[in-house]
Amino acid sequence: MDNSNRGSWKSNFGFLMSAIGSAVGLGNIWGFPYKMGRSGGFAFLLVYILLSATVGVTILLAELAMGRKTGKGAFGAYKSLSKKFKWVGFLAVLCPFLIMSFYTVLGGYCMEYMCLNLSNLAFGVTGASSGADLFGSMLTNPLGAVVFTIIFIVFCYLINRGGVSNGIEKFNKVGMPALFFMLLFVIIRSVTLPNASEGLKYMFVPGYAVDAGYIESAPSIISVIATAGGQVFFSLSLAMGIMITYGSYLNKNESLVKNSFIIAGCDTVVALMAGLAVIPAAIATGITNGVPVDEIQLGGPSLLFITLQDVFNSMGSIGPLFGTIFYLLVLIAAITSTISLIEVVSAYFIDRSIEKGKKPKRSKILTGVCIAVLLESILIAFDGLGSNGLWVPLQETFGVIGQFNDCWLDFIDALTEGFAMPLGAFFMSIMIAWVIKPKSLLPEITNGKENVMSKLFTICIKFVVPVVMLLILLGQIDSFFEIGIFK
Ligand code: PHE
Repeated sequence: MDNSNRGSWKSNFGFLMSAIGSAVGLGNIWGFPYKMGRSGGFAFLLVYILLSATVGVTILLAELAMGRKTGKGAFGAYKSLSKKFKWVGFLAVLCPFLIMSFYTVLGGYCMEYMCLNLSNLAFGVTGASSGADLFGSMLTNPLGAVVFTIIFIVFCYLINRGGVSNGIEKFNKVGMPALFFMLLFVIIRSVTLPNASEGLKYMFVPGYAVDAGYIESAPSIISVIATAGGQVFFSLSLAMGIMITYGSYLNKNESLVKNSFIIAGCDTVVALMAGLAVIPAAIATGITNGVPVDEIQLGGPSLLFITLQDVFNSMGSIGPLFGTIFYLLVLIAAITSTISLIEVVSAYFIDRSIEKGKKPKRSKILTGVCIAVLLESILIAFDGLGSNGLWVPLQETFGVIGQFNDCWLDFIDALTEGFAMPLGAFFMSIMIAWVIKPKSLLPEITNGKENVMSKLFTICIKFVVPVVMLLILLGQIDSFFEIGIFK
């Protein structure tokens, strides 16, 4: 089959920046640091690194190998490897599509905050509206959110339209190093604020979050493992067809093993850096402003759009500068993740055209995909995280259980991240371990040379991944529905 119409990476560095760009997203900023602080600090970090280096790297390797071996995106790859598991490939295209419904709205919010801080900088406004007021009015003003969501989607569309090497790769090669340096700049300010050491203790010292009253009780060890596993999984953009698609554009000579460890390592380093940038600043400012420690919002959208805006507001005349830089770096993180999601869905249609013997029309396909994403994201923007009283599916059935029914964003997040993704990864490992057998992917993984990785990969995909994926699935269901299995 002629694959020359699909595109490919120009360099391994470009591929790495793009894969790391997909992995580094909002989850690194508002998920990892907060979970680390609440779930045992340094001890959580060790569990996280262990899971990332075993389960994370194994799934990463499997996905990259599936893509490169078949030369196809998520659905095509599953279909060519095993007809029986075609449906898993379908999930791996559907999930990214659904996730974009809210990821693009969040990207729009980041853009709105960056513009706000930039205009404060330009007009010398300091100590502007409080984060809570700003975010509240933003959520209840869906029209503004829709406008920024549209701008965000158009921006991503233009990058993807440039193609794999001239669009995605080019943007990531500049965007990711820029993000890294901006993050360093913000870290320096954050850790030098008075009371910043309190934030460092929250993040790193095991048990400190409980002792100092940030949370009521420590989570059980099983819940720590499930939380760390879920975070590794979402943070590395696994079971979303992304690494399959990006792998299908990769040159046969490159080492998948080396690349997988680099991707997982960089993702963790950026998550830790993000923690140093946000947690000490959030806690230091909270304490200075007299907020009780258990009321400082350290995770999720409220960290990003309420707590941190208050941090910048209280920095005086330099605040808007740090605000602009910070929201710009978050915006880049959101863009580089979104373009990977758009690419997965588009690759499905591109592969279908090629299969039918037609020359794929990349621009046309991208236009269709982005319009569909726009339509679903309008719903999420209008829902405004549940602020505008829209009906949410299953709300009556599930009553007030957990966060599941709070708003449309949580509903879709529970469906995808909570359920379909861990399920997909579980079945992927079953397919590779017991149906097509690890040896069918090993030549791709080791570039034809048997080595210690061949054994490690086989053991991990057969025994470790399925068990951990089931645990993650239970953990996700537990936290999305707040059942309390792992308390
Ligand atoms: N890895 C991203 C993050 O940490 C989330 C994401 C998942 C983005 C899947 C794209 C696809 O935020």
